Formats: sequence, structure tokens, C-alpha cells
Amino acid sequence: MAPAQRGRQTTVGRISDEVLAFTTGRDLELDPRLAEVDCIGTAAHVMMLSRMPVRPPIFRPGDARRVIRVLGEILLQARRKGFVIALEDQDVHLAVERLLTARLGDLGKKVHTGRSRNDQVATDLRLFAKIELLEAMDETLELAEVLLACARTHAWVPMVGRTHLQPAMPSSVGLWASAQAESLLDDVIHLIDVYQLNDQCPLGAAASYGVPLPIDRELTSQLLGFSRPIHNVLYAINVRGKLETAILGALGQVMLSLARLAQDLILYSLPEFGCFSFPPEYGTGSSIMPQKNNPDVLELIRARSATVLSLQMNVAEIARSLPSGYNRDLQETKGPLFDGLAITRASVRIMTLLTRGVTVHPERLKAGFTPGVFATDRALELVASGMPFREAYQQVKERLGELETSDPAAALAAKTHLGAPAGLDWEGYAERVQAGRDFVQAERLEFHEAISQLMGLPYPPAN
Ligand code: ARG
Repeated sequence: MAPAQRGRQTTVGRISDEVLAFTTGRDLELDPRLAEVDCIGTAAHVMMLSRMPVRPPIFRPGDARRVIRVLGEILLQARRKGFVIALEDQDVHLAVERLLTARLGDLGKKVHTGRSRNDQVATDLRLFAKIELLEAMDETLELAEVLLACARTHAWVPMVGRTHLQPAMPSSVGLWASAQAESLLDDVIHLIDVYQLNDQCPLGAAASYGVPLPIDRELTSQLLGFSRPIHNVLYAINVRGKLETAILGALGQVMLSLARLAQDLILYSLPEFGCFSFPPEYGTGSSIMPQKNNPDVLELIRARSATVLSLQMNVAEIARSLPSGYNRDLQETKGPLFDGLAITRASVRIMTLLTRGVTVHPERLKAGFTPGVFATDRALELVASGMPFREAYQQVKERLGELETSDPAAALAAKTHLGAPAGLDWEGYAERVQAGRDFVQAERLEFHEAISQLMGLPYPPAN
């Protein structure tokens, strides 16, 4: 008697359940989120194949339209009900191919002509990252705007400026809040930078080395709304992992800004400081201490910033050790990318909510001004009357006890140079926010138009 066949039949041969479970890893959970972009990428590939000058044609134009119509239906279904991947599918790519073949027979069996899952997943991930990065930019700009509004409202509210956390010099809530906003505006530069790196199409690279077919890579790149194809097919595969490292780096920058903001808000809302406060529903209570309302949200943002930074290291460490050409190790960079995007975006959104809810307490802020905070200003007054700075410094230092608390408002008004409390360029900030918004809007529009045209349905579809 012939030995019973072991393992499970898959599109690519028989594979044992243990090996399938191990190698599929997090893909069963993560890949459904790629279903939509996988359908889109496949539509572009099929469209390109239908225009390929070979005899007999791989797809006649009418066939391509049929395949793309079914891809559109799968896309809509995935959006509505979610997408289920069976263990024997291994991943979203073979699951979509299975559905197409079930619906269209031979036409479904043709879609993978001249393509590999290696360039397919790289394309999916770039489409996915494109959509996510535009959202992340928008959300980051929103938070920057909320902080700028807070800064303008409280532009003249005095706040003790600190170095080494010790009281240092007169400052303002306006300076503090706009500093946080400017940090985020710089982060948007990082996001745009990685967005542009990401905006190149790997499709057509196939396994890593191209194929002996007249693949039109310019066409698929255009159909998918990418700015251009990645030129070298081997590089198109090699750069996976390295790109994710860059994207996570940009997200890490956003998280560093949030961590600073979170830490400041935790500190300045302590009862001992009382400079800022939040509506009670933004805190969490304690199970034992009735009086507590803890800033758990801010603490978790602080900790999750560490997570995102370490995800970048995780991916870089995977990419670091790989030889040229596709390696399955790359699959392990998918989770960190998804996690980094999700954590960062959720953190930015909740920080926006919290920042909108901040109440500023001017009396408590003013109460923090000790005479020492005015020591440097006093020395500079002496300089104004002709004394060399070091002498003025020495004189003030020797008579610290004689210093008096001055008017913080006057101290702020005197700092008029570029970027100082009375020299903040509100218009410059507003222009930077607007430029970011314009970028996001233009890119989104271009992408939506390309995909709507390719799929023959309005994209993004109304849910
Ligand atoms: N899930 C795989 C990944 O993310 C898809 C590509 C599989 N390619 C392969 N040659 N086994 O990398």
C-alpha cells in the first residue's frame, strides 16, 4: 500500500501543516490588510499583460477587463467583510489568485504570468505605506496646528523656561507650544522624504531578476500612480527592509516629538506645578486611591515611542544580514512596519485630542517665577549700560540675594529677535502647515484618480 500523502495541498505543492504554520507566521493576521492593494497591484499587472505585444496575447483586452472587474469585487468585499486567508493559501497573494481562479478559471491561472510574490508583496507594501504615510502626515499636521493654536492663544502667558529642569529664564507658553509644533513640522519633512522614496514601483522585478517577456514597467508604475519604477530589478527586491527601516525612522522622529510633549505635559500637570490640566475623562483612575487621575495616555505614548524606535532596529537588523535577492527573512519586516504605522498614528491622534483639551493656568505659571529667573536679563541690562558681559555676570552672581522678581510680561516683550518669545513667526508656521496640507492633498488626489481609472470604480470606495 502506498504511504498516505502527508501535508496539505497548496498552489505551490504539498507542505506539512507544521511548516505551513511556522512559515506563514503573522501573515495570516497581517496580510488581510494588504488584500485591497494586492487586488490593485494585480489589476495593473493584468492590464499591462493585456497590452503586451506577444502572440498569442496573454489576455485579450476584454479578458483583462473581466479580471479587473472581479478584482474590484474582491476589493469591495475585503473592505466590507474583511478578507480571510486559509492556511494553505499561505498569504494574501495566493488567496487572491485562488479566488480569481475559482471565479474565472483559466483567466485566474494567468494572472501570475511574469510576476513573483517577491515583487508583488514589495508593490503591495509600497501601496499600503503610501496610503498610510499620507494619513500619518495629515494627522501630524493636525497636531501641529492644534499646538500652534494653543501657542497663539497663550503667546503672552509667562512660563518659566528651564534647563537641567531647573528654573532658567523667562519664557512663554507660546514658545513652549510652538516648539512642540515646529518639531512635528520637521517630522513631516522626514515623512515626505520617505514617502518619496517609497513612491517608486518594484513591480516587474519578479523573483529578483526580471523575466524573458516584454514587461512594461513604466506602464504598471503609471497605472498604480507611482512616480516611477525602481530601475534595477535586483535592487527593487534588495531594498525591501531597507525602505522599511527608513519609514520606521521617520515614524520614530514623530514618536520622539510626542515623547517630549508627553513628558512635559506629565510634568507640568503635576499638582505641584499645576500649570496645565486636562478634563478628568482624559485620565484614568486608581483602583485603590480615590483621589487619583493618572496620565496613563501620556505615559503609554512615552513607552510606545521606545517601541517604535526599537522596531526600526528590529528591521534594520534583519536587513543587515541578507545576501542579494529575495530572502524569506523579509517577511519578518512586515509586522514591524504595520505596528510602527499603527502605533504612531494612534499616538498622534490621541495626543491631538489631549492637546485640544489642555487648560492653561496663568496664575500657577506666574507663581513659578523666582527672582533668579531674571538674573541673566539683569546682567544684560548692565551690558546695555556699557559693562562687559563677564563683569555684569559676576556682579549679578555676587548679589543674587538682591535680585527682585520683575514683570515676566515685560521680560517676554523684550525678547524680540527671530524665534524668541516675542519674535515668533506665526505666518511662517501657518505656511509650513499649509504646504504640508497641500502636498498631502495633491498626492492623495493623484493616487485616487489613478486607482479609480485602473479599477473602473470610484476609489476609495464609499464603505
Ligand atoms: N509572505 C511573503 C513575504 O512577505 C511573500 C513572498 C513569498 N515569497 C517567497 N519566495 N516565498 O515576503
